[in-house]
Amino acid sequence: ATEEEYMGSLKQQLAKLFETSLRVTVPQVPDVEPLIAPCNPKFGDYQCNNAMSVWTRIKGMGTEFKGPQPVGQALKNNLPTSEMVESMSIAGPGFVNIVLSKQWIAKSIHKMLTDGIGTWAPKLSVKRAVVDFSSPNIAKEMHVGHLRSTIIGDTLARMLEFSNVEVLRRNHVGDWGTQFGMLIEFLFEKFPDWENANDQAIGDLEAFYKASKQRFDSDSAFKERAQQAVVSLQGGEKKYRKAWEQICEISRKGYEKVYKRLGVHLEERGESFYNPFIPMVLELLNEKGLVEESEGARVIFIEGKNIPLIVVKRDGGFNYASTDLTALWYRLNEEKAEWIIYVTDVGQREHFDMVFKAAKRVGWLPAEDNTYPKTDHVGFGLVLGEDGKRFRTRSTEVVRLVDLLDEAKNRCRDALNERGRESEWTEEELEQTAEAVGYGAVKYADLKNNRLTNYTFNFDQMLSDKGNTAVYLLYAHARICSIIRKSGKDIEELKTVGKIELNQDAERVLGLHLLQFAEIVEEACTNLLPNVLCEYLYGISEDFSGFYSTCQVVGSAEETSRLLLCEATAVVMRKCFHLLGITPVYKI
Ligand code: ARG
Repeated sequence: ATEEEYMGSLKQQLAKLFETSLRVTVPQVPDVEPLIAPCNPKFGDYQCNNAMSVWTRIKGMGTEFKGPQPVGQALKNNLPTSEMVESMSIAGPGFVNIVLSKQWIAKSIHKMLTDGIGTWAPKLSVKRAVVDFSSPNIAKEMHVGHLRSTIIGDTLARMLEFSNVEVLRRNHVGDWGTQFGMLIEFLFEKFPDWENANDQAIGDLEAFYKASKQRFDSDSAFKERAQQAVVSLQGGEKKYRKAWEQICEISRKGYEKVYKRLGVHLEERGESFYNPFIPMVLELLNEKGLVEESEGARVIFIEGKNIPLIVVKRDGGFNYASTDLTALWYRLNEEKAEWIIYVTDVGQREHFDMVFKAAKRVGWLPAEDNTYPKTDHVGFGLVLGEDGKRFRTRSTEVVRLVDLLDEAKNRCRDALNERGRESEWTEEELEQTAEAVGYGAVKYADLKNNRLTNYTFNFDQMLSDKGNTAVYLLYAHARICSIIRKSGKDIEELKTVGKIELNQDAERVLGLHLLQFAEIVEEACTNLLPNVLCEYLYGISEDFSGFYSTCQVVGSAEETSRLLLCEATAVVMRKCFHLLGITPVYKI
């Protein structure tokens, strides 16, 4: 579909009409933005809420209107004629209730079926964004916290990409810092032949990290060597650099496996990437007089904060904040990103708040919120176990991500076997479905909650085929596909010869809901809330049930129209799955 074809979301199209009406009705206040919201279904589909506030503004200016209600009446009368609107009414102090035309709803859905759901993609005012997500630390196992960051960040990136934003997916890996001295020394000590030692020989890097830490804490000679190793590494000495690269590579192989299983694409830009730019960026900050001396460290004071942001430690080393300030500078100036989004647990909120405020002080970011370029910290809560405490396995170790994914998949495979699919499907179909449903369930259980709240990890719940779960939704979609398949009709042909009609209530409810897709994606993007899209998807499946239980599809007089409505529902659901990083399945 071409760009010109996009008319804006349903809400935006209504807003355009009311904008025209506002200009005609109250020319004395030309800056008023139309306020459009869904309304109580008893009165209509949408309402325009401008009358009250417009009245407050114009009443002192000498106006022929006698109150807010006449303003609302005039807004209604001055609305340009449009095939969108079936009827309007005025309620209370000038609210304009709008009933949309069901012919227009049907036509819009049919057009989407012909031109593709891409024509329903919202258009955002941003051209390029950075999403900084996943970002595990080298030599430490990825845990459920990183799983949340990976899942949430991927969805946000997908939604922005769908909305025609160019997204730089950045994995800000913790691959630099003093811990590497200890790791490198330990590597030399344990594996004298380290240059030829592969990841199998070195084994579990997390255990390796723990052992080296123990060595570091208990042996002062080792500790000294480790500290010296940091200096050698940062000084670029070949041998140290090589050992560092080897450790990073082993770690990388581990989390690449997880990304592959989750279907997540990321570009690694670890902390080490920004390291060479730090002195230059600190000099920029220094020139502006932002950097001060405090207790031997170099710091930036930030209004309203009790403690300053440390940018050079007392020993002269750089830290997490110096790297993040530099990365922010790089993303704004070198990569020309207009929106930079950081996905980490809420525990890092203060850190990002300080970094963003420092960037405002130096003038990299505008002082006002919601002007571009802008930054956002997308925080999320903890993953809890059944006991309400931080999610752990019985051995009190952190939960390994791969084990979680394995278990989800295996349980789905068992469920398919129980349904007798083992004898009907090929091995490949069984595997693919178990993965799609299992990984989808883990993702959806995370995404459906408001990300700021903690959520409890529970396999039984997330893999249930009832309620608001991925399993239920994937099955609902597969069932719709099977209705279409079993009708024996060629849906492509129906699209060209058929017509959608929304005469039954349940049909109209479903149709209108489908048409709200664009504004929902836009809302989820602007507020960085994937749960908004999950709620929508679940709502669609409920409306479909409502429709399917009251309207006979196959064999009815309205068969063609209803099959097209089934197809539109499946298309919208699939797009939602795709935006949530879930692979749809077509049979159950
Ligand atoms: N590596 C960090 C952690 O595991 C997350 C990094 C987030 N991104 C950033 N630019 N600071 O906590």
